[in-house]
Amino acid sequence: VKSLAGRSLMSIADLSKAELIELLDCSIALKKAFKDSSSGIEKEQKLIGKSVAMIFQKRSTRTRVSTETGMGLLGGRALFLGPTDIQLGVNESMKDTAKVLSGFNSLLLARVNDHADVEELKAEARVPVINALSDLHHPLQTLADLMTIQERFGKLEGLTFTWVGDGNNVLHDLMLGAAKLAINLRIATPEGYRPDPAVTAMTEALAKESGSSVLITADPKEAVTGTHVVATDTWVSMGQEEEAAKRIKDYEGYQVTDELMSLAADDAIFMHCLPRHKEEVDDAVFYSERSVVFPEAENRMWTVMALMQSMLDM
Ligand code: CP
Ligand code: NVA
Repeated sequence: VKSLAGRSLMSIADLSKAELIELLDCSIALKKAFKDSSSGIEKEQKLIGKSVAMIFQKRSTRTRVSTETGMGLLGGRALFLGPTDIQLGVNESMKDTAKVLSGFNSLLLARVNDHADVEELKAEARVPVINALSDLHHPLQTLADLMTIQERFGKLEGLTFTWVGDGNNVLHDLMLGAAKLAINLRIATPEGYRPDPAVTAMTEALAKESGSSVLITADPKEAVTGTHVVATDTWVSMGQEEEAAKRIKDYEGYQVTDELMSLAADDAIFMHCLPRHKEEVDDAVFYSERSVVFPEAENRMWTVMALMQSMLDM
């Protein structure tokens, strides 16, 4: 995706509709090239000599391993920088870290608590920066999720996507991505856990432009009836551990179960960014035929590969 060269990704709002579609196509082509030798698509190591410095202020399995492995497949290097590995936060500022790492690395990637921190990294860096999850956004997850839906249904436009649970970081980028690509959105959250109002306003404007709909309700059944995709996430995000007991109580009635899934379309799928807990989805749904959670996790790698290649104009 040529137009992404040299640019950063803070949220899905940073991508145009055309760029988003091209990025998903590029991810699907990379997957074919690397996994299916009969596809006829040439497997190329386009990032030899390149590197990505990955700052993690919070835990990660998928984001860390998909980026490290994906960069390796493309011939580049990934450096994992956990909270106790570098001076950042203890002895050195974000500004100085951004300037120093920009001298060594082709790309920076960061998982932070406060979204303002990854914005500061972008402002101070001389190379593209990827937001690998903040309290507000998780664009990498949305890329993988849209790719997975595209693979399952062969299209995106006109489908209906339902979220049941917390109005959180993962949902925010799914809202922006769905509205851009003319996917109808239905969101069921308890009253006090609605998505961020600014993200909702942006989503409504994008949906108006693309001709799709947005429903926000407190009724999971209303949101799931007839839908093509049911997705959820943990009710207790990283950093909210102290509120766990209250949250779990407030989300009563929001668990995704077979009973709830039976209201969805016959070919509906279940999605979850992982890590997963039984509170938000029971085993019967999570391990069912309808669940695409493990292909979804794998697609984190193909999508971040496509993104890194595009940012480095390769
Ligand atoms: N889905 C996701 O971002 O998982 P990790 O926290 O394991 O990276
Ligand atoms: N909402 C979760 C997503 C983890 C990938 C969190 O922020 O912890």
